[in-house]
Amino acid sequence: MRIALFASGTGSNVKNIIEYFSDKPKVSIVSVYSNKQNAGALTHATNAGILTRVFSGAQLKEIAPIYQLIEQDRVDLIVLAGFLLKIPEEFIVKFKGKIINLHPSLLPKYGGKGMYGNNVHKAVLAAGEKKTGITIHYVNEHYDKGAIIKQFETALSTEDTLESVGLKIKELEKKYFPSTIEELTTTTQL
Ligand code: GRF
Repeated sequence: MRIALFASGTGSNVKNIIEYFSDKPKVSIVSVYSNKQNAGALTHATNAGILTRVFSGAQLKEIAPIYQLIEQDRVDLIVLAGFLLKIPEEFIVKFKGKIINLHPSLLPKYGGKGMYGNNVHKAVLAAGEKKTGITIHYVNEHYDKGAIIKQFETALSTEDTLESVGLKIKELEKKYFPSTIEELTTTTQL
């Protein structure tokens, strides 16, 4: 099973995933793709000796350039780990059922365009939610609307702040995202 990670940010999830699979021979993290040249995710990949591929939003929209690289890397599964650009529909069709995403809320709540990172946590706090969590889901042509694979929850109290919610989410991501990917690679025909 060959996995490519797509990330735009600091890459704590990229780091967790790389570490988790480093001693698991059946799964190989073959490359880390980013639309940001200075993304922390790329540094984690480079430190682990993993191939990095940087591209522009325009190249992603063209599809062919990225598609060719994915083919070249012989990728079985694409994991979006903090990737902020929309994956073009044509690309999703080509990789149907083979692209998954991590979202820092209990979808369908707090998803959609512009809902990422602290924007999500702010909305969750403003609504006085008693719980929040993470969703791992397939990617389809609508932002955060693909079939849900798994969700994990954490309780919230009136004491919670933007920072504490962020930390709770990071904890869930570390604990459950890599293991859910592993489960997926063993239970589904990708
Ligand atoms: C994560 O919280 C993830 O849920 C969301 O983007 C964030 C990326 O964080 N999709 P990092 O770059 O992995 O640290």
